[in-house]
Amino acid sequence: MNIQTVINGKKISVNVKNDMRLLDFLRDELELTGTKEGCSEGECGACTVLIDGSPVNSCLVMAFQIDGKEVVTIEALDEDGNLNIIKDTFLEEGAPQCGFCMPGMVLSAKGLLDQNSNPTRSDVKEAISGNLCRCTGYTTIEDAILKSAKKLGGKNG
Ligand code: FES
Ligand code: FES
Repeated sequence: MNIQTVINGKKISVNVKNDMRLLDFLRDELELTGTKEGCSEGECGACTVLIDGSPVNSCLVMAFQIDGKEVVTIEALDEDGNLNIIKDTFLEEGAPQCGFCMPGMVLSAKGLLDQNSNPTRSDVKEAISGNLCRCTGYTTIEDAILKSAKKLGGKNG
C-alpha cells in the first residue's frame, strides 16, 4: 500500500508491503541502519524509534502503520539540537560500552525529555525500562539522561 509519512523531518510517499515491519522498512528500504534489531519480539528496546514523539519498538509495528505519522530515528541526530545534546552527554558520561543498545536508549531519553524537562532518576528509570543493556549497570546511562535534562533545561517545555 502507499503511505505518506515523515521520516526525520523529510516527507515521503512510498509503497510498502503489507507484511513489512517498520524495523525492516527503516533498515532495508531506507538504509537507516542505526535502528538495531535485538530480540525481534518487543523485549529489548534496541529497535526503539519515536512515532509522533513516543518511543515505540519498531519490531512490533508494521510499516503501513506509520501512514500519516512522523518517525524519528537515531539518524536524525545531526538535524536535531536536542538529540545532539543527549548524544554528546552520553559520550561525556561514558555511557556506551558496546553501543548496541544506545540508539534505542537515546531515543527513549529524547521521548522522556521532550515531555518532561526536569525528570527524577525514577522517571528516567521508568523511561528506559524497556531498553535492555547487557554491558553497563545503567547508572551511567541514567546519569547521562539527567545531565542532558540539565543542559536542555527549559528548551523541552
Ligand atoms: S528488537 Fe525490537 S524490542 Fe528487541
Ligand atoms: S552498551 Fe552494550 S548493550 Fe548497552
